[in-house]
Amino acid sequence: MKTIFFSTHDFERRYLDYWTEKLGVESVFLDCRLSEETLGLVKDADTISCWASDDLSRGVLQSLKGIGVKFISLRSAGFSHLDLDFAKDNNFSVARVPSYSPEAIAEHTLGLLMCLNRKFPRAYQRVKDFNFSLDGLEGVTLHGKNVGIVGVGKIGEAFARIMKGMGCNIYLSDPNTNEKLGKELEAQYVDLKTLLENSDVVSLHCPLNEKTKYLINKETIEFFKKDAFLLNTGRGALIDTEALIEKLKKKELRGVGLDVYEYEESIFSHDHSLEGISDEKLLRLMSFPNVLITSHQAFFTSEALDNIARISCENIKNFNDSLPINEQNFIC
Ligand code: NAI
Repeated sequence: MKTIFFSTHDFERRYLDYWTEKLGVESVFLDCRLSEETLGLVKDADTISCWASDDLSRGVLQSLKGIGVKFISLRSAGFSHLDLDFAKDNNFSVARVPSYSPEAIAEHTLGLLMCLNRKFPRAYQRVKDFNFSLDGLEGVTLHGKNVGIVGVGKIGEAFARIMKGMGCNIYLSDPNTNEKLGKELEAQYVDLKTLLENSDVVSLHCPLNEKTKYLINKETIEFFKKDAFLLNTGRGALIDTEALIEKLKKKELRGVGLDVYEYEESIFSHDHSLEGISDEKLLRLMSFPNVLITSHQAFFTSEALDNIARISCENIKNFNDSLPINEQNFIC
């Protein structure tokens, strides 16, 4: 049985080559995105493999059903790009990679914070230019500061452990409290308002859904301590970008580190260096000297890429061999 892999990137090919060969998954690799326009490429396959940017909306699923696709293996943890109700109602089997390296994302979050606080990008450029002055490079000592973590799942916990190790006081906010972790880190579980009012660093690690969309909005952003750092490696729409821009204009945040952006879909992961970009909000964010943006790369380590390829190929092999799919990976 053949699997069509959509949106394969050069950076994941050697991991996919290795695991498809090792597990005997017959595969066709395409670099284009799955969409209405590229459905014609699904031929003689009852399994497809998708990246988070592929279109798995109702219309596309309807056509996939007509073509005879039965199994969708996601090379991602999140599945907000999948019409889950339609997939369930139409007997698609779908599996994902629920966790591939929470530490990778937590470490990237720390990287954003350190770069913002100690101004490494600017310091690097200055020294390259033989400018050894320190003016404007002052940071704060993070030891002893309060760090608020919103969403204490796998990634939030990994980030909490890192910051505890740096001598910070940890505040946690999550509808599901983990008493054991709270005790171990001497951390307090508090509501969002209390967390924002008390934290010198706020880091978002909850999933994006109807309840968390615009968690940080024009009201909640006013709860932040003056000169706090805001970090988002979760999903762009956890923050109302307009409210953030207004707050930045007032110079009330010390630094903002974003690995995700509300309207990132057609911009991130692509090279726009020749034509530039026209997204006014992103351009405005990029214009602030205390905003650091990376292009959804927090997951991007060798270990994570290997895990994504291995687990997604194991899911395919199990489906092909009529074996049960790991319960944690199974979506429907
Ligand atoms: P997880 O499922 O282990 O943890 C999410 C936590 O958020 C859970 O404990 C849940 O109870 C909590 N939560 C749900 N609603 C909440 C709310 N309203 N307020 C506070 N907490 C809430 O997920 P994991 O693996 O830790 O991933 C978290 C998020 O990180 C993902 O949903 C994804 O959006 C993002 N992510 C980003 C990546 C990147 O490269 N930038 C890569 C992978 C994930």
